[in-house]
Amino acid sequence: MGLGVVGGGVAAALLGQQDEISRKIGRPMILKKILVRDPDKLREPPIPADLLTTNPEDILTNQSIHVVVEVMGGTQPAAGYLEDALSAGKHVVTANKEVMAKHGPELMSLAQDNDVNLLFEASVGGGIPIVGCLMNELLANEVHSIRGIINGTTNYILTRMANHFTEFHQALAEAQERGYAEADPTNDIDGMDAAYKLAILASLAYHQHIQPGDVYRQGIGSLEAKDFRYAKELGYAIKSLAIATRENGAILARVHPSLVPLDHMLAKVDGVYNAVEVEGDLCGRVLFHGLGAGREPTTSAVVGDLIEISRKIGADGRPTPMAQLDGADSIRPIDDMVSRYYLRLTVADHAGVLAEIARILGDGNISIASVLQKDTDPATKTAEIVITTHPAREASVQESLRLVAGLEVVREVNNLLRIEE
Ligand code: NAP
Ligand code: HSE
Repeated sequence: MGLGVVGGGVAAALLGQQDEISRKIGRPMILKKILVRDPDKLREPPIPADLLTTNPEDILTNQSIHVVVEVMGGTQPAAGYLEDALSAGKHVVTANKEVMAKHGPELMSLAQDNDVNLLFEASVGGGIPIVGCLMNELLANEVHSIRGIINGTTNYILTRMANHFTEFHQALAEAQERGYAEADPTNDIDGMDAAYKLAILASLAYHQHIQPGDVYRQGIGSLEAKDFRYAKELGYAIKSLAIATRENGAILARVHPSLVPLDHMLAKVDGVYNAVEVEGDLCGRVLFHGLGAGREPTTSAVVGDLIEISRKIGADGRPTPMAQLDGADSIRPIDDMVSRYYLRLTVADHAGVLAEIARILGDGNISIASVLQKDTDPATKTAEIVITTHPAREASVQESLRLVAGLEVVREVNNLLRIEE
């Protein structure tokens, strides 16, 4: 179901490498039907017209179809089709992060009840085999943290901004020109795409349904080239990180731009590459790195899932039991988090301004680690200051920032970013 960027790659692999794939499984795998919206669209590679249909029932009620691949995207009708396919006893492979993040547990139960497999490796990290590892190879671990870069579009934009001090809108336009960002890149820019992916990873790691709405989210739209200059001077890169941690029975999941030390492995993940570090009690730190999007890497994950299912059908037909997402840990609000912070402000350029700001931060028990003041603008009589803090509580920082923003001498709070050590 779906013959776009991903579906086109999957169809090309199934048609072009049918013999190789069948040899890996030990029995033939045959592409029977493809659901599309517009059967007259020109496709690359071209697909035989008799394979195309606009009627989902040609797939969902077709007894000779054993496995359904959903690569349409969006919540509906995709989620409904997945339910129908599983209820009809068909195995399912999907790349749909939105559906899996929102409806994963119901779909997994439905798969279990109908004795079929539901695999979704391609929903996170394109060609990186992270989902299967959390569901299988790393299952012996208590996962302490997941920390990574799981959106290629934003990582491309941030890399351009860091390397060339390009402004955000220009870097976004370049990402669109190169076909990395979609025509409507909102879900990438505002962190929603990464929140879906983190919700899936955290649900698997912590064995409970973490909803996309449980993930604290801050997009990258407020970043300016000057933030990258200051960060570099302070010894940091700026990356949009997706982080999930569990401490004392509470889970905190968050997606936001972060300052990362330049020598940290995640600081070196550039362009459309993704990387995820999983820290477990037994395995220690395990790193996954690779292409997180695009036709070929995503096809690798989808076809890998198809082969896994087909091998099982070839053995005894029994599905692997689905992960149980029945944990009941609380979701920790970000207010309780302790972090270091980077704060950029535009202020009136006269005596006593720093002292006023420092007093408010001090009252909030926020200790200043460094202060930079570079640009002063004689025309507007303003100066730009960058403050980094020692570890402080998020709620206290937000409240102090509200008071700082209200000072007569503060013209603008330009950015507040968290620093990951
Ligand atoms: P896409 O290029 O927009 O393709 C969507 C396909 O689904 C099109 O072929 C479209 O048909 C078909 N379709 C959509 N709605 C339909 C409907 N209601 N009825 C029938 N057909 C319908 O999307 P994509 O980039 O391949 O992404 C597909 C899924 O994979 C999404 O869930 C996405 O999040 C996920 N994913 C994508 C990537 C990536 O790099 N692109 C990576 C990982 C995961 P027409 O061709 O006739 O319009
Ligand atoms: N928009 C996503 C990204 C595509 O940029 O990473 C893969 O999910």
